[in-house]
Amino acid sequence: MKWRIAALVMLSFLLGGLVAMAVLPGGRDRLFSGLPTAGKALVGGPFSLVDHTGRKVTDKDFRGRYMLVYFGFTYCPDVCPSGLQVIAAALQKLGPKADRITPIFITVDPERDTPAQLAEYVKSFDSRLIGLTGTPQEVDAAAKAYRVYYKKVQDEKSTAGYTFDHTSIIYLMDPSGTYVAHFSHTTSVDTLAERLAKVL
Ligand code: NI
Repeated sequence: MKWRIAALVMLSFLLGGLVAMAVLPGGRDRLFSGLPTAGKALVGGPFSLVDHTGRKVTDKDFRGRYMLVYFGFTYCPDVCPSGLQVIAAALQKLGPKADRITPIFITVDPERDTPAQLAEYVKSFDSRLIGLTGTPQEVDAAAKAYRVYYKKVQDEKSTAGYTFDHTSIIYLMDPSGTYVAHFSHTTSVDTLAERLAKVL
């Protein structure tokens, strides 16, 4: 399974880059500089979900704040924990500057990832991390808005007999909800912290 995860991760990161370059005027510069430029990306958009405290939230609740958006699921064995650890460590490294950022984890597995399950999970990474779930339709709409691919696959070794293939992209969105840059769970903590510091 390892090669499959690695291949999916590489593919998803490349696809994310291609999408960003295709839809952004000057997207190539933005990808590598991490600095905001003019132009509107087609990544991101409205979502309506439930947070890990059970509260209904939409994308508008995060206006005025930078968002780091990552899709995954709590039963993910390695990729999601790596991604969330990178986010948590980078925020830690940024210090008070990180107060302008809300890290968000959106599940692609709403069947198992209830608000209660997410609450337990997110607090193990960072107290600022917000877990979001919803109906399968709401989750699907959010994933589509962020151009996130996910697919349920059978796996006898996993709890409930299934797991998910999914893209592993960390999206940085600005206070107006517009795409700024993207990273992956393989981005180093130093790189992510530096790029965020430049944007903030
Ligand atoms: Ni995962």
